[in-house]
Amino acid sequence: MELNELYREVILDHNRHPRNFGRLDPADAIANGHNPLCGDKLTISLRLAGDAIEDLKFDGNGCAISVASASMMSEAVKGKDRATVTALFDKVHALLTQQDAPSTDLGKLAALSGVREFPARVKCASLCWHTLNAALANADAASAPAVSTE
Ligand code: FES
Repeated sequence: MELNELYREVILDHNRHPRNFGRLDPADAIANGHNPLCGDKLTISLRLAGDAIEDLKFDGNGCAISVASASMMSEAVKGKDRATVTALFDKVHALLTQQDAPSTDLGKLAALSGVREFPARVKCASLCWHTLNAALANADAASAPAVSTE
């Protein structure tokens, strides 16, 4: 099987059978993401254990790439600490936007490399990552000590 075909199969599989689909309740943080180009929406809920993402789910509706990307991301970031998640996002972002970016160490996420041939779809694939960052920022805000003006 050719690599491109393999990647297509991975994306189709994650679109048809999204992993970690749903909503965590209770959750430590929730964030809504939205792709302004098409109006599609995605929600991520997560639970933290110290500095690590203990559990995470996503829901919403979007195109095959956005759902597959969120599904693969959910598997990749579970149990990882924030520094690892940030490093992974940097690599995925490079993969999506730079022709010669390496796909080493990305596991299944390497299947997204074909997206860079279609610049209009890059936001589909990165929507879940931006939403995850927003959820982590919301978790920080929720755990920050209350600000007093006195
Ligand atoms: Fe809306 Fe891809 S077309 S997220």
